[in-house]
Amino acid sequence: MSVRGHAFGIDIGGSGVKGAAVDLATGELVHERIKIATPHPSTPQAVAEAAAALVAEAGWDGPVGLTLPSVILGGVARTAANIDKSWIGTDTRALFSDALGGREVTVLNDADAAGLAEDHFGAAKDFEGLVLLLTFGTGIGSALMYRGTLVPNTELGHLEIGGIENEHRAAASVKDRDELTYEQWAAEVSTVLIGLENLFWPTVFVAGGGISRDAGQWIPLLTNRVQVIPADLRNSAGIVGAAMAIDAGIRP
Ligand code: BGC
Repeated sequence: MSVRGHAFGIDIGGSGVKGAAVDLATGELVHERIKIATPHPSTPQAVAEAAAALVAEAGWDGPVGLTLPSVILGGVARTAANIDKSWIGTDTRALFSDALGGREVTVLNDADAAGLAEDHFGAAKDFEGLVLLLTFGTGIGSALMYRGTLVPNTELGHLEIGGIENEHRAAASVKDRDELTYEQWAAEVSTVLIGLENLFWPTVFVAGGGISRDAGQWIPLLTNRVQVIPADLRNSAGIVGAAMAIDAGIRP
């Protein structure tokens, strides 16, 4: 099945491969998302087979957009965060296209996909100007959008502010590892946001990742200048953004 006005998105992470068909007019999932545990080891071949199984289960035969926690350049993965290192150098477009019977695919960074979705359908849909989404998880992902156009692979989680990489300072995993209170962690997040707003001057920050569910406990504690709003689409943002990317012909 492939339906006009729908596209299929798959979000690949360290723990799950999740996908669904997306209504591109509303950004809503057309059916319950399908989830397969990420294979271990999470090699390209094993993950491609999981993606093919997911698409077969959905009965989808149209184009597919996919995310990876990787920098993607010309379809080739250049980094691999929380997935097998053998992704580095893999032509991900060719890999997934082959696994999916030669159909058209696109592959983009996971945070970039979330950014597209939040900018168009989610938390930032009513904001003009520069939108900077950060996902706080095991690491920090980033997506920079200006008036709907994505600047791919920004990787601001790896920018050093005060001599420390942002994701080493303020990923959600740092809060857990060091048993920080929300007050302590919010101070580190503020340092990251102040550094970024002094460089990029965004109109708004969107905070994503699992910890954005508890936004009420830490966003009010932030001391940076620019407004921070929690992500809206939660765990469907990557799927929606991947579907938008294949529809819009975004091929980083
Ligand atoms: C990676 C990014 C990724 C982010 C979230 C970072 O460690 O460098 O590519 O978007 O984690 O998964």
